[in-house]
Amino acid sequence: MLKKFSDFFKPVPQFDLSFEPFVKVISHLSLQFMKANDSHLEDLLNLERRVYRGRTPWDRFSFRNELKKHHNSLYLVVYDGSQLVGFIGARFSEQEGHITNIAISPEYQHRKIGSFLVSMMIDYGRRNNCTVITLEVRMDNLVAQTAYKKLGFKPNIVRKNYYYTEKVDGLNMVLDLKGDGFK
Ligand SMILES: CC(C)(COP(=O)(O)OP(=O)(O)OC[C@H]1O[C@@H](n2cnc3c(N)ncnc32)[C@H](O)[C@@H]1OP(=O)(O)O)[C@@H](O)C(=O)NCCC(=O)NCCS
Repeated sequence: MLKKFSDFFKPVPQFDLSFEPFVKVISHLSLQFMKANDSHLEDLLNLERRVYRGRTPWDRFSFRNELKKHHNSLYLVVYDGSQLVGFIGARFSEQEGHITNIAISPEYQHRKIGSFLVSMMIDYGRRNNCTVITLEVRMDNLVAQTAYKKLGFKPNIVRKNYYYTEKVDGLNMVLDLKGDGFK
């Protein structure tokens, strides 16, 4: 069969991204974890402004677009009462879980919330038989790189000007879930 036709008939991979909201105490804070939806958009943009000194690397369109991809994406938000504390997003393919975005509000950073969110996505990767979990991080973001290394991620390749508006390189980091990396 011609490749393009065989691709057409290829079954769409199914991912188990089921999620039930829950409450968990982390660093003495009783935090609510839930799936992100359009009603969280304003809070997400405000959190980005607080984290990135007024900038929103992901604008409303990018968030809204990602939140529609229920089939292979999972976006989670964490609230302390009515205050958005942080969020994480990941996109899954047959071999790879890719963390697309993560941020913790400045006043809640360094309390293990980010590590917990990344660990959750690692669990989803395992559940969906992924070989690796990957992400990109700015070369100058040593705090985030250290956090990922503590979770087992290893530096992989440098992507030149990955953050193209600021001309900053991105470091691709990989967590090997099967001991044999990319196939
Ligand atoms: C990077 C980020 C997601 C980590 O989440 P977090 O909840 O703050 O991190 P954790 O509390 O889980 O800490 C994990 C490790 O990160 C490092 N770390 C986190 N915050 C730190 C800080 N303020 N100063 C120094 N190291 C810090 C430490 O090594 C820490 O390990 P330790 O607790 O054993 O010291 C969060 O700090 C953040 O949102 N930063 C701004 C946005 C950003 O950089 N996003 C990542 C884009 S790729």
